[in-house]
Amino acid sequence: MKKALFTILFIGSMTLAAQTTTSKITIHAEQGKNVINKEIYGQFAEHLGTCIYGGIWVGENSPIPNTKGYRNDVLEALKKLQIPVLRWPGGCFADEYHWMDGIGPKDKRPKMVNNNWGGVVEDNSFGTNEFFNLCEILGCEPYLSGNVGSGTVEELAKWVEYITSSGDSPMANLRRQNGREKPWRLKYLGVGNESWGCGGSMTPDYYSDLYRRYSTYCREYDGNKLYKIASGASDYDYNWTETLMKNVGGRMNGLSLHYYTVKGWNGSKGSATNFNKNEYLWTLGKCMEIEDVLKKHISIMDKYDPKNRIGLVVDEWGTWWDQEPGSHPGFLYQQNSMRDAFVAALTLNIFNKYTERIKMANIAQIVNVLQAMILTDGSKMVLTPTYYVFEMYKKHMGAINLPMDITSDTLISSKRSFPAISASASKDNNGKILITLANADPDKNKSVEIDFTAYKVSKVNGTILSAKAINSYNTFEQPNEVTPSEFKGAKISKSGFVKIEVPAKSIISLELQ
Ligand code: AHR
Repeated sequence: MKKALFTILFIGSMTLAAQTTTSKITIHAEQGKNVINKEIYGQFAEHLGTCIYGGIWVGENSPIPNTKGYRNDVLEALKKLQIPVLRWPGGCFADEYHWMDGIGPKDKRPKMVNNNWGGVVEDNSFGTNEFFNLCEILGCEPYLSGNVGSGTVEELAKWVEYITSSGDSPMANLRRQNGREKPWRLKYLGVGNESWGCGGSMTPDYYSDLYRRYSTYCREYDGNKLYKIASGASDYDYNWTETLMKNVGGRMNGLSLHYYTVKGWNGSKGSATNFNKNEYLWTLGKCMEIEDVLKKHISIMDKYDPKNRIGLVVDEWGTWWDQEPGSHPGFLYQQNSMRDAFVAALTLNIFNKYTERIKMANIAQIVNVLQAMILTDGSKMVLTPTYYVFEMYKKHMGAINLPMDITSDTLISSKRSFPAISASASKDNNGKILITLANADPDKNKSVEIDFTAYKVSKVNGTILSAKAINSYNTFEQPNEVTPSEFKGAKISKSGFVKIEVPAKSIISLELQ
């Protein structure tokens, strides 16, 4: 797109008189009713570039320290995030993946070409057993993305049997032969991925029928309950959602949605680290637009499912930039700056707000691909600013979302405007409140006053994530350019308000009791 399109104007809410830097948040602590589904903090791992191979899995004989083939440094970092759910094996890869190639002795596993991602040879050394064991180590729910595009109904049905059957069934016995006596638990089953595109270029009507057919044969063995997720729309494709809700309805438990913060699908997507203020604001405007997109999909779902039985599953979201110079063009390896941290913070604040309908979300992707938590290079590993946002937000998982009103000045890009202050609040079982708050203004500090209405605050602890510049990022050589530190700018006033001095371009989490 032309640069002129991104001409930015900064205005405060009072452009005519003096600009105000004071914002007000009213938290209705007594009105919270919806639990923030912990699965909103889900992750996604695809056989793409070095996400699995090199990023998570190095094999037992690797010189990189590992536990049964999984690299120790990555495991340790991921455990700290308390990941609730992990989606695998794709993405586009899922609709070309034949699970039987990824079981049994590794030297006998057939190889395949990863046509979607760089045409590299996939040796299938990371397969079903390796994935389910990883989920056990991380303590997360597995979310399997099934092959509808190029697979068969029988193949998907047998995969579910292999994983979950405990009886004397052919697939359970095959699993036993491969060293796993007990079945695993499988809750989340995706029936295809992007079936309108890389998952088969289907129409919504045709896919609806396929969904009905495939899902019929995915059985619930021995008490295992499946939550079946239909392949959903890409961003503004409301017709896909409408057709699926009409044709499939209650046969699905969840319907997915993909929304990337991306400039477009053709041509350059822009550098992950070399960008100006205009591009920064454009990015956050595009990121914030997800709220409008969510509202529109949700209103269609509300029409067909007023009792809210079908969950919206945003199983791919995040930033998408040009791959890092020198890296393989098919590997989607990108750096991750303070700007990405804002996209994570703002998006998660929005997801929390719509938790009544949003049952899960999976940022793309966990390691070395797109908006990753972690980057690796050989034996080196670095945590990204996005990782720290997930760490600061993790106590929202399973807490009650607290409704709020925010008054804030506005940031404007040529097409979109959005509030400089974004926030979310939740209350846990012990009555502790977590507030996550971002000041996206790259230049101006904000004074924020928080009114808790009925809640009495006696203590506040804070953490802040900020950086020298909006394009600061962590490298293997300098891993601490963007890291969280203690935040001391919150004070409880005599009247019970919490007053916070929020520096420009910063993300804050506050724990209150
Ligand atoms: O996350 C990368 C790719 O983006 C996924 O494979 C696909 O589903 C989407 O288009």
